Amino acid sequence: MEHRALPRLAAPAVAALLAVTTACTGGTVQGRPGASGLRDPYFPKAGNGGYQVEHYALDLDYDPADGVLHGRAVITARAEQGLSSFNLDLSGLHVEGVDVDGEGARFNRTGNELTVRPADDVKKGRVFRTEVVYSGRPKALTDADGSREGWITGEAGAVGVGEPVGSMTWFPGNHHPSDKAAYDITIRVPRGYEAVSNGELRFRTEGADGRTQFAWHSPEPMASYLATAVVGPYKVTTGRTPSGVAVYNAVSPEEAAASEPTLARLPEMVEWGSGRFGPYPFGTAGAVVLPAGTLAYALETQTKPVYPGAPGDESLVLHELAHQWFGNSVSPKSWKDMWLNEGFATYAEWLWDEDHGGPTAQEHFDALLAGDTDVDEAADAGWDAFPPADPPGPEDISASPVYQRGAMVLQRIRQEVGDEKFFGLVRGWAADHRHGNASTADFTAYAEERTGHDLKKVWDVWLYGKARPK
Ligand code: TRP
Ligand code: ZN
Repeated sequence: MEHRALPRLAAPAVAALLAVTTACTGGTVQGRPGASGLRDPYFPKAGNGGYQVEHYALDLDYDPADGVLHGRAVITARAEQGLSSFNLDLSGLHVEGVDVDGEGARFNRTGNELTVRPADDVKKGRVFRTEVVYSGRPKALTDADGSREGWITGEAGAVGVGEPVGSMTWFPGNHHPSDKAAYDITIRVPRGYEAVSNGELRFRTEGADGRTQFAWHSPEPMASYLATAVVGPYKVTTGRTPSGVAVYNAVSPEEAAASEPTLARLPEMVEWGSGRFGPYPFGTAGAVVLPAGTLAYALETQTKPVYPGAPGDESLVLHELAHQWFGNSVSPKSWKDMWLNEGFATYAEWLWDEDHGGPTAQEHFDALLAGDTDVDEAADAGWDAFPPADPPGPEDISASPVYQRGAMVLQRIRQEVGDEKFFGLVRGWAADHRHGNASTADFTAYAEERTGHDLKKVWDVWLYGKARPK
């Protein structure tokens, strides 16, 4: 994080240089290099410019005994400019070769950037296929806030989690939430292990080589931070919600008994969410319960959130489920918009309580304002430390103001506009940006337009104001 400010200063200079280069070669038909980052306010090098990915096909072969991953990524993307070269984000691992449209491509690596130079420039508007063959022992990353992400190994397996940038430790890609794509993730593991990923299990085959292959299919757009691959001796149970959404739960055997009561409520929660927020955005639902001690937090990985051991209470399961609408279907445009994920998911917990005989959302709001931890444990977690739409730095994007004060913003809107308009807004937001990306500015404009209320004071005080609101 020490380079945080630098790329912002360096970027215009790079752009100027590129302009000169293009002018010199007279290159209107020729491609130019795609940008090496999308200049996210917190993670400027995350993602890459010049193309949008449509589909990732990841073929992974993993052996928990030695921790070695063999991978082949076929990335189908559309060029948004003529490209003489383009970048993928990849951390660690050894790249064995890169092809673009079936032809060998030159490549080099600096930091977490894999730069690919195809034999021929890719023309603007063209759909092109990049194949990267890679291998090695993936390594976890430690974020600015001290949390670990990426490829996390445990005693008997591993899990890939990628919020905000850890997915680059296990596959090359355009690792920024603004570029969502469909995925097919195939995982080969030694017999006796399960391999779990997002979406639907297309097939599971026992090979003659003593390995089992699992083919997972995610047709709906997915931000790469929500991709997961989990390997271990999991206990799998399947079912359906009352309205027919397929449920796939993979639970670490030692966590099975403790997980049962909370996971049993997942089908009912999916139905409840569909009533409150509109149709469940994905074809499948479920959960992965990791062996305790593997990871320090839960993550809303698409369709199957991962839990760091048996989920202790139903609020956590509800929170990760709510992210399927808020975060996964409606995804942030940049990491500055994280409160749109966490504020909504926290607010969903309050609504669940309100609908199930617990404190109302207003009571949660009042408890936070008063510092009353009897009603809301998070009341003294420091929700007033900074405004939710403006975290001071990358180490703050998962801090309390993003969650609790983010939820308080929503309650303030509800107070201003009343229940009918408020729930119309929430459902409209999920519907109008379904499977897309949205920013804080998109939300504030939408809220005012949809409700017909001037909400400037709410934004100034609750969303952007530095002082603790009263
Ligand atoms: N976004 C996750 C959730 O709300 C939690 C999470 C992911 C997190 N990474 C983190 C929390 C790092 C603290 C630190 O379910
Ligand atoms: Zn969350």
